[in-house]
Amino acid sequence: MRNILVTGGAGFIGSHLVRLLVNKYPGYNIVNLDKLTYAGNLENLRDIENSPNYSFVKGDICDYPFVEKLFGRYRIDGVVHLAAESHVDRSIVDPFAFANTNVMGTLSLLQAAKNHWGKGGKEGFGNKLFYHVSTDEVYGSLENDGTFFTEQTRYDPHSPYSAAKASSDHFVRAYHDTYGLPIVISNCSNNYGSYQFPEKLIPLFINNIKQNKPLPVYGKGENVRDWLFVEDHARAIDLIFHKGRVGETYNIGGFNEWKNIDLIKVLIECTDKQLGRAPGTSERLITYVKDRAGHDLRYAIDSSKLHDELGWSPSLQFEEGIEKTVKWYLENEEWLERVTSGEYQKYYQQMYSDRK
Ligand code: NAD
Ligand code: TYD
Repeated sequence: MRNILVTGGAGFIGSHLVRLLVNKYPGYNIVNLDKLTYAGNLENLRDIENSPNYSFVKGDICDYPFVEKLFGRYRIDGVVHLAAESHVDRSIVDPFAFANTNVMGTLSLLQAAKNHWGKGGKEGFGNKLFYHVSTDEVYGSLENDGTFFTEQTRYDPHSPYSAAKASSDHFVRAYHDTYGLPIVISNCSNNYGSYQFPEKLIPLFINNIKQNKPLPVYGKGENVRDWLFVEDHARAIDLIFHKGRVGETYNIGGFNEWKNIDLIKVLIECTDKQLGRAPGTSERLITYVKDRAGHDLRYAIDSSKLHDELGWSPSLQFEEGIEKTVKWYLENEEWLERVTSGEYQKYYQQMYSDRK
């Protein structure tokens, strides 16, 4: 039996990972620690919430005494750490929140893991693992020159979000190098799929197309992102958690680069088609707006280490993934309404207030 703490399991990627782990490993206890910020939603996990190998704990990773106790209470022997503030635009408005959660929160988890697992000296670390989920944004920005981020690329973050994530990556490595804590890190490209909070490009634009609202394209729409289907990211995390080499970093990406404006046109085509509208109907909604400050031009990940060492590759073609994703948002109108109206907080109260 392994007791795995997943942080941020009520968020977009975390909920896909928790679902995968709970269903695939009935012999594990999966403990989901999440503060339920605006981005965390227990409805994302409705299908597995009553599974015997799953527990939810509401709490803040920055609250060190609480995290410390949690490690003891659940006898945690593995961590997959996803909890974070994750939206670049919000980080530009409120950088402190990003430093607190992404840096101090990570530090608090590292310290708790070190203290609990290291009780019997370094040997106590045997079979334990602290897996830190990070982003390709720590590497900075590429030109349109066909180069890729590799695991050796020098860190060069530009936004408060990526600076905070970079800092947390450094702390994770420092705990490995200084105290011998068994760690592994992955840096992934942009994810898309179901249950993503509709402040990020893809769900926001699908929703706006549906509602005939303007599609705010930053700058000239020429920035490039490398898109990966979220379930493929969850599969990669599972693989690295079980088979990755301790102390290593693995890049995860889809070899799937899209200029924003081209991606937006695919989204329009697909959404119009599924809504039964004539092709190109929603192109008139495209609205160029002021660019994001410090907007990174291009991200592109070289994930060949993960492929060569562990045999991982993306399972879905982009067109298929986008079709599935558009269908999901159009069919889950109520989810969209609830996450944006704050209704899910009431759901939490109803479901958990008398279960303590
Ligand atoms: P998200 O914003 O959808 O979810 C974050 C989750 O963390 C939410 O459930 C939130 O309630 C929780 N959380 C926030 N602050 C917390 C705190 N102080 N204590 C406990 N829980 C807290 O994020 P996501 O897109 O699912 O990203 C998950 C992780 O993956 C992040 O670390 C992010 O940096 C990384 N990542 C994301 C992407 C992407 O494209 N979304 C790509 C690469 C890496
Ligand atoms: P986003 O989904 O916020 O991810 P990230 O900034 O982490 O890559 O944005 C993806 C791209 O889309 C990015 O280049 C910014 C751009 N974008 C827009 O043009 N308009 C929008 O309203 C949003 C949210 C993003």
